[in-house]
Amino acid sequence: MKWPAIFVLLGICSQAAAQAIQVSVFSTTSKSAILRWTRVSGASSYKVTAAPQNSPGNPVGYAMFGANTVMGSIHSLSPNIFYTFTVEALDNQRTLNSGTIDSSSAPEVMDPIQTVKPKDSKTLMASFSSTTGATSYIIRVQNTNGFFREDTVSSSPAEIVSLTPYTEYTLSVMSVNSGGQSQPSSTVTAKTVLPPPQLSASSPRNDSITVSWAPVAHAVQYSLSLYKFGWNTTNIRHNTSNTNLTISGLDAGSLYVIKGFAWDPEGRQGDHNLYINQTTRPPTPSIANVSMGINNGSAGISVSWEWVEGVYGSIWYHVMSDQNLTCNSTSSSCTLFPVGCGEVHTIRVSASNEAGPSLPSGPLVFITFPCTPESLAVVESTEGNCTLTWDTVNQVDSYTAFIKRGDGAEESCKTTSNSCTYNCTCGHTYLMSVLAFNQAGSSPEGQVINSTTLPCCPEGVSVSAVSTDTFEIMWTPSRGAEVYQTRAADSSEVILCNDTAPVCALSDLSCDSSYSVVVTPCNDISGCNRACKAHTQITAPCMPMNLMLTQKNSTCFSVSWTANNRQANYTVTASGDDGTHTCNTEGNSCDITELPCGSNFEVSVIAASPAGWGLPSYSEFLETGPCCPLNLTVDQETQAMSNVSWSTAKGAHTFITSLTSARGHARCHTMDSHCLMGCITCGTNYTVTMEAISQSGRLSNCSYEGFSSSACCPSGVRLYGMADSSLRVYWRGSGSSHSYITEVVGNRNNYTCTSSPGESSCDVPNIQCGDVYTVVVAPLTPEGSKVLFCTQRIYSVSCAGSNIGTVIYRGKRSVD
Ligand SMILES: *[C@@H]1O[C@H](CO)[C@@H](O)[C@H](O)[C@H]1NC(C)=O
Ligand SMILES: *[C@@H]1O[C@H](CO)[C@@H](O)[C@H](O)[C@H]1NC(C)=O
Ligand SMILES: *[C@@H]1O[C@H](CO)[C@@H](O)[C@H](O)[C@H]1NC(C)=O
Ligand SMILES: *[C@@H]1O[C@H](CO)[C@@H](O)[C@H](O)[C@H]1NC(C)=O
Ligand SMILES: *[C@@H]1O[C@H](CO)[C@@H](O)[C@H](O)[C@H]1NC(C)=O
Ligand SMILES: *[C@@H]1O[C@H](CO)[C@@H](O)[C@H](O)[C@H]1NC(C)=O
Ligand SMILES: *[C@@H]1O[C@H](CO)[C@@H](O)[C@H](O)[C@H]1NC(C)=O
Ligand SMILES: *[C@@H]1O[C@H](CO)[C@@H](O)[C@H](O)[C@H]1NC(C)=O
Ligand SMILES: *[C@@H]1O[C@H](CO)[C@@H](O)[C@H](O)[C@H]1NC(C)=O
Ligand SMILES: *[C@@H]1O[C@H](CO)[C@@H](O)[C@H](O)[C@H]1NC(C)=O
Ligand SMILES: *[C@@H]1O[C@H](CO)[C@@H](O)[C@H](O)[C@H]1NC(C)=O
Ligand SMILES: *[C@@H]1O[C@H](CO)[C@@H](O)[C@H](O)[C@H]1NC(C)=O
Repeated sequence: MKWPAIFVLLGICSQAAAQAIQVSVFSTTSKSAILRWTRVSGASSYKVTAAPQNSPGNPVGYAMFGANTVMGSIHSLSPNIFYTFTVEALDNQRTLNSGTIDSSSAPEVMDPIQTVKPKDSKTLMASFSSTTGATSYIIRVQNTNGFFREDTVSSSPAEIVSLTPYTEYTLSVMSVNSGGQSQPSSTVTAKTVLPPPQLSASSPRNDSITVSWAPVAHAVQYSLSLYKFGWNTTNIRHNTSNTNLTISGLDAGSLYVIKGFAWDPEGRQGDHNLYINQTTRPPTPSIANVSMGINNGSAGISVSWEWVEGVYGSIWYHVMSDQNLTCNSTSSSCTLFPVGCGEVHTIRVSASNEAGPSLPSGPLVFITFPCTPESLAVVESTEGNCTLTWDTVNQVDSYTAFIKRGDGAEESCKTTSNSCTYNCTCGHTYLMSVLAFNQAGSSPEGQVINSTTLPCCPEGVSVSAVSTDTFEIMWTPSRGAEVYQTRAADSSEVILCNDTAPVCALSDLSCDSSYSVVVTPCNDISGCNRACKAHTQITAPCMPMNLMLTQKNSTCFSVSWTANNRQANYTVTASGDDGTHTCNTEGNSCDITELPCGSNFEVSVIAASPAGWGLPSYSEFLETGPCCPLNLTVDQETQAMSNVSWSTAKGAHTFITSLTSARGHARCHTMDSHCLMGCITCGTNYTVTMEAISQSGRLSNCSYEGFSSSACCPSGVRLYGMADSSLRVYWRGSGSSHSYITEVVGNRNNYTCTSSPGESSCDVPNIQCGDVYTVVVAPLTPEGSKVLFCTQRIYSVSCAGSNIGTVIYRGKRSVD
């Protein structure tokens, strides 16, 4: 095939040198050639000459063409000979220019094609015997419409491709050399086979493959064969006249190579060069474990399954829940998310490969963690007994309530119900939360509520009456209390005392009343504990009023009063200079006795009850009558006058003294402690009474018994001098019962003589004449003392005369 190229190059060189006509071979046959040339101006005709190359001087022929012709044929050639073709441009026999070209004539007609076999539905294989000198061959293909196509092939056998399946073709062959091609050989006919069915396969199940195809025209039957890739190349053939076929009993997850062909009515197998791959679906995975998991911080369900071993190709898994959650994985686990609390998921897993998904695994029901219990509430059903309740949550196995007390004590309560009873001690704050549990775990932390129990009742409440209308209430501070409300209620009043201190004074209480005192602890959060015990306390008795004093006798006063106490002991106190006098009673009066005379007392009454002392009544003043003088003495001054004197008497300011006898009555009223009283004559019995009168006019009667005036002074006293210088004194007495004393007092000597009762004379010896004697004769008192007021007489004894018998009376001398 290098010749033409070299030749062309030469041609170009010669043209360049000689301005030659350019000649080309349009076509050749085994007997002729058609040439083409370039036009030469001025040429009137062109002459084409052909001479064998190996003897140029012996042209085998020529042909003439007109001035306007640039293409023409030359005949009389022999097949398969190299010729030199010369084209001359002539103008009247004159060669203006010329050009040559070497070319072979076409080969001889070939033998018919020996065999034609269908290679596939579009290809026939043709075998023919080759021809020497042929550079190539042309196979002419004709169908029922005539000429169809010519294929240039280099040798036998030749493939004739791109034919229409199952079509009859008429084939002939031509040989080609540089000069051209031979005439076609005589024809043979051949028919292409049926085209392969266009298989499409799918794996409806993991053990079967369904293959289907469009019907192939003219096919009467189909054959399919398949084998498992990499395992067994043994084809299993299945025949059918349908256009589909399901092959079952296959291995799951395996690649099968499938081929098919059609049979034509002539009983020829169609084209089966097409094959397809089809994988069976993977086996159904089985769920190994389902548990709660976390994905990107949100809760999910982590599902794992058993890895499917020994399957062909890549495989991926698809997990789905009936709650519209899915996850995909190429490993053996994945997480469905997000999930919420209390969800019921029916989970299935399927494995997929390019054939599609496997049957999903049997469902597995998984319940997610429970939802947080809500609406927590606490009620204190009874004291110390609190019940925490909450709304029930679905899908829960149990609840645990956590109850934490303010002081750190903690308790938990596990239950399947929706409430928990716990000890709630007074005065504490409780923080409570509830978690719900199921197999998947616990609910998220939820609401924490706090509840503060009522404050504790104070202990050690002491109620004491600090005064008659005031209670002091003290207690020990109680837990949880911020403020104490103290209340004292009798039948009518309520008194409140609000304070944070554990002490309260309730004042202005009614006397003699029973108060129920309650200390109620309160705080802002939980309010007041109304259940605290009351402490009953009675107020002090009421103050007695309207004190009345009634004198019963000089030493005894009756004291009475009004009082409204239900029950009380009253003590009357009379306090005075000499001390206090009391009397007690449960009634409304009592007597104070043995009051001393002449005293002032301040009297008051005080009531006492078990609650204590009341207020003392207002005081009244009491004055006892003045005392009677203890000693009263009556001194007879003269026969008809007495000096009454008395000892001092307490409380007495003036005295009225009365002397009373059968013969008369004397009276004196004085501030002194004595007075002179006449009227009582000698020798009289009398009584003395006295009224001692206080400054305020209070009066005491005093009586003194057994007074009698002294005997009367004797009358008719006479002295007689006696012979023996004695003196005889005579008197005339007032009665025989009295003794008299006679006193004779002289300058040099004194004489006394006492007469026996009834006697009325007395002798005094040794009287000197010339002396003066004072003589008195006086009766003796029963006690033996001398009555002083009898008259003294002075006598002088004269010495005139031998005897002294003359006594001269000189008159009376004053007592003083
Ligand atoms: C190959 O397939 C044939 C037909 O199904 C069977 O008889 C043979 O045992 C297979 N061989 C192997 C190695 O699997
Ligand atoms: C299989 O072929 C039969 C007969 O041609 C037809 O009736 C049937 O519907 C086909 N089945 C499928 C799945 O194409
Ligand atoms: C079929 O599978 C084999 C193995 O993977 C591969 O080599 C071949 O190219 C496949 N053929 C087709 C038509 O996909
Ligand atoms: C799942 O999705 C379907 C379609 O979107 C919807 O009808 C169905 O209610 C969903 N189910 C759940 C549980 O969300
Ligand atoms: C999982 O795979 C299926 C099928 O391939 C697809 O439809 C789905 O969207 C995928 N889901 C996820 C979450 O990737
Ligand atoms: C607390 O209340 C519950 C239910 O009302 C009752 O069963 C329980 O006995 C009470 N406990 C106390 C200590 O009161
Ligand atoms: C609650 O208190 C009562 C009485 O104090 C006691 O008997 C009981 O054990 C307590 N219960 C708990 C759970 O602490
Ligand atoms: C208790 O609850 C009240 C109101 O709900 C809140 O103001 C207070 O802070 C809570 N106390 C504690 C200790 O949680
Ligand atoms: C005590 O406090 C309560 C509640 O704050 C109030 O209702 C009441 O009037 C108060 N009483 C007195 C005596 O202050
Ligand atoms: C005074 O009266 C009281 C009671 O009536 C009596 O006990 C007392 O003896 C009396 N005293 C005098 C001195 O009479
Ligand atoms: C009064 O005193 C008596 C004796 O001391 C006593 O027994 C009684 O209980 C008291 N009565 C009252 C009301 O205090
Ligand atoms: C009262 O008289 C008695 C005997 O007469 C005497 O002992 C006493 O001292 C007198 N008392 C007064 C206060 O004079």
